[in-house]
Amino acid sequence: MNQSLLQILTPAGLIPDLETLKAWLTTTDNRLHESLVAAAFALKNQQAGPGIFLRGLMEISNHCQKNCLYCGIRGKNATVARYELSDEEILHLGQKAAQLGYASIVLQAGERQDNKFVLRITKLLKSLKSISLRDGVRGGVRRPDGSAGLGITLSLGEQKKEIFEEWYAAGAHRYLLRIEASDPDLYHQIHPQDALHTYERRIQSLRDLREVGYQVGTGVMIGLPFQTEEHLAKDLLFFKKMDIDMCGMGPYIPHHDTPLAQYAASIPSPERRLELSIRMVALLRLLMPDINIAATTALQVLSAQGREQAIEAGANVVMPNLTDLLHRSNYDLYDGKPGAAVDADVEDTDFARYLAQKNIPILRGEWGDSNHYFARNRD
Ligand code: 5AD
Ligand code: SF4
Repeated sequence: MNQSLLQILTPAGLIPDLETLKAWLTTTDNRLHESLVAAAFALKNQQAGPGIFLRGLMEISNHCQKNCLYCGIRGKNATVARYELSDEEILHLGQKAAQLGYASIVLQAGERQDNKFVLRITKLLKSLKSISLRDGVRGGVRRPDGSAGLGITLSLGEQKKEIFEEWYAAGAHRYLLRIEASDPDLYHQIHPQDALHTYERRIQSLRDLREVGYQVGTGVMIGLPFQTEEHLAKDLLFFKKMDIDMCGMGPYIPHHDTPLAQYAASIPSPERRLELSIRMVALLRLLMPDINIAATTALQVLSAQGREQAIEAGANVVMPNLTDLLHRSNYDLYDGKPGAAVDADVEDTDFARYLAQKNIPILRGEWGDSNHYFARNRD
């Protein structure tokens, strides 16, 4: 590691400074890039542990009431075949996750706030919680009633606080809600200008989630139209200020049926978006050494080894897709989304061989809550 980098690292990570972050995001010095990545990986091993946590991802429905300008499943995109998994299919996927030793699952869907949907999720959460795990849960049991079962993360968009409470009481304990762009102006540039898509509501939801007791994850897209390195540096400081437990961020990938696709020629090249994404992972790890950071699927669109590169830069969570092969190609957030023909198990894959070769253990049978969360609750 180069000397100047060592000097600004403390045991608690990087001392945040906007100018330094900006300089590190813009640099074309490969040696500096490599030092940042190596420092982040070392810090991750020390503070988040050497292993990788798995979450089985279920894309339970692609119906969405929103119209984010970048997203392929936005409600107004009439070319998407809409689907919704049945309760039986979802419970089957929960069992599949438990059999594969994934002690945690993520339920993701487009945003819906109607009563029918909310109630259905509540019921499903209770059923999913009753699925027993193959080798029990190590490390993560924390619910007041002592229950273990699958660790459940939700990614179901903005909801009223009471709904977050209802779902928490029904068994969910982590929630992912990306801020997408932490700068209010940029946020509004990539969303429709209406009451459903306001920055303030997004922030309020993130606050509500924390107050209810969830471990909160957020994230941004990298390489958006109108986005600068300064925006990205501020995103990193936003994560730190919000004291998040988890982060998922990845490159923006234009989808041909979306309004934002018209700016595709103005965004950074695929190589640059990949490099920036990896560097963002490394810098966030330096800023927040003990949180969970995902190696996201979108990285794989830009490079077959995108997720591996993120792990080498300090990511420690991977979310293999459990969703039924039949429906998967319709959860079409962006062009070229991978995995439509890949089974959910990571065993016997190039990815697993890569981890084995690097001596990075896959931690099956653990919920994998972040050390940051435990530290926050000790204080
Ligand atoms: N490129 C990359 N990520 C996207 N998402 C939606 N559309 C795109 C896109 N075109 C991401 C958003 C959202 C998550 C479910 O998918 O960040 O939060
Ligand atoms: Fe809906 Fe999420 Fe896509 Fe926005 S990003 S349109 S909320 S699925």
